[in-house]
Amino acid sequence: MRAAILVASVLPADFSELGQQVKQLEKAGVDRIQWDVMDGRFVPDLTFGPDVIAANRRHVSLGFEVHLMVDDPDPMLPRWVEAGCEIVIVHAEATRHLLDTLSAIRDLGARAGVALNPATPLEGVTNVLHLTDLLLVMTVDPGFGGQRYLAAMEPKIAAARTEIDHRGLQVELEVDGGINAATIGAAARAGATVFCAGSALFNGTGTMGDRVAALRQAAAAGMEDK
Ligand code: DX5
Repeated sequence: MRAAILVASVLPADFSELGQQVKQLEKAGVDRIQWDVMDGRFVPDLTFGPDVIAANRRHVSLGFEVHLMVDDPDPMLPRWVEAGCEIVIVHAEATRHLLDTLSAIRDLGARAGVALNPATPLEGVTNVLHLTDLLLVMTVDPGFGGQRYLAAMEPKIAAARTEIDHRGLQVELEVDGGINAATIGAAARAGATVFCAGSALFNGTGTMGDRVAALRQAAAAGMEDK
């Protein structure tokens, strides 16, 4: 059985102390850091660029993934890899030639990820899954942290799991949005194995390590139920 991979979104972090916050996440035991990049066009908010990510690269040894909630991501692809991101995730809705974009990410030496908004069907990416290293099924409409998990995405997660396994593809299946100790089990039962959480890690009772442990326990229980 696959082990759950827990990815921390730094969207809810204290941006005045990002270096300390990523160190805290590493100490708490997460597996990867996700940088939520927003351009104010694809989504309403604006967050950070490659220089901010690069400035934090030296603080931790964790892998970095960048979630590009940006229109036309192609021109800046090299900048995210140079900043230290090993996984670059683009939105299927934000690029005209997704196959070329995914190939370009791999040509840069990074792993290629594609994200689907809730309204976008899985069929939008089945023809390029063989060129994809990670499929991110959004369980909220992107643009803000702290939103409610959309259980209606579970059939899409399950369909993605079936497609990946049936074709024998090596594609990580990640979910992002409203993932917490109460929702992660259902996402795992649907077939996700990579879980991105922001609010559930930075807010709540106990220490961040306690919250990591609670997420891991609930994810494992869900994966066992599958
Ligand atoms: C949405 C973002 C969020 C963020 C974490 O645009 O992608 O999903 O990663 O959100 P929460 O706080 O719901 O875990």
